[in-house]
Amino acid sequence: MKKFLSILLAATMALSLAACGAKEETPAAEAPAAEAAPAEEVVAGVCWYNFGDTFIANARSTLNKAAEGGAIKVVDADSLNDVATQTSNINNFYTQGVKYLVVNNINTNAIAEIIEQAKEENVTLIFANTNSPSEEEFEIYENVYHVSSVATQSGTIMGEALTEYWNAHPEADRNGNGKLDYVMLLGIQGHYDTEVRASYSLAALADAGIETNCVMETICNYQRADAQNQMASILQANMNDVEAVIACNDDMALGAIEALKATGFFADEASYIPVVAVDATANGVEALKEGTMLCTALNNPVTLGNSVYKLITLLEEGKDLTQENVGIDGTTVEGHHIYINYLGITAENTEDAAY
Ligand code: GAL
Repeated sequence: MKKFLSILLAATMALSLAACGAKEETPAAEAPAAEAAPAEEVVAGVCWYNFGDTFIANARSTLNKAAEGGAIKVVDADSLNDVATQTSNINNFYTQGVKYLVVNNINTNAIAEIIEQAKEENVTLIFANTNSPSEEEFEIYENVYHVSSVATQSGTIMGEALTEYWNAHPEADRNGNGKLDYVMLLGIQGHYDTEVRASYSLAALADAGIETNCVMETICNYQRADAQNQMASILQANMNDVEAVIACNDDMALGAIEALKATGFFADEASYIPVVAVDATANGVEALKEGTMLCTALNNPVTLGNSVYKLITLLEEGKDLTQENVGIDGTTVEGHHIYINYLGITAENTEDAAY
């Protein structure tokens, strides 16, 4: 459990969204019962990194649905996978006077600055689906929270699935060099999830004593089309040396599978190639059933969206952030963190991926 410095906040929020017009002076005796002033609307601004991302689209719609009829209004903005757009969206939300700011942060080098700004604005800040602030960064401001899946687990799930396959299928060493020759498809440059998924998948293979060789590691921005194009060109040059694909999300795996199919893979048992990924999106699960994807790690967007809404509701109600108060399956509450656990999904347990 982390300790947080309690910091006295200057209560100088200049923004007042409520209509605070001058009151009419009415003689006390004849004054009609004063009408209750309309309650100030509590707004949470949410900066998603990219509305077009499948996983984010699911998390976003869950959060918006959770907010329907709730006490806190959710307004969101698309960072369009662009740091400058994220910054301007954050500034807009401050101008609008939001009480909570949720950031699916892609400006991972600026965590401390983002926290400093929230502190100045006296806004509660929630980092969602991104890396956690460090302990020192948490200490900058007491109203900082983090809701995200445990990226390390997803990498391990991919690496262990490949290990199992490799050990059970000697013929998977198609070029007979004794090494597992893989292509690594990365998400956004420098993105925490993708870096951890990549390194932990390889660590799991190394831990199992499997020698690997990187045929190509390439950034595909979590996008299906990028992965399809890049995989097609990798195959042109290395058709006989690719023995596995590690994709840091399902969308990229699906693009790679298209390219693999177009090159003659997956035509029969002999042309099978293991592809592992993360998310367990609806299309990812279809690929598991079809037999083109070996394994994916369920990254539950519904749990993410609901956890974010639950967190702001608890904070608004002045309740403690505890496992019991959050009460959402598949989460682990620790200090100011809500961690969302991954689950390995193969063709054998696709029903576990339903959300
Ligand atoms: C990951 C997810 C990816 C992508 C990314 C964006 O958690 O697995 O598919 O959505 O977040 O931050």
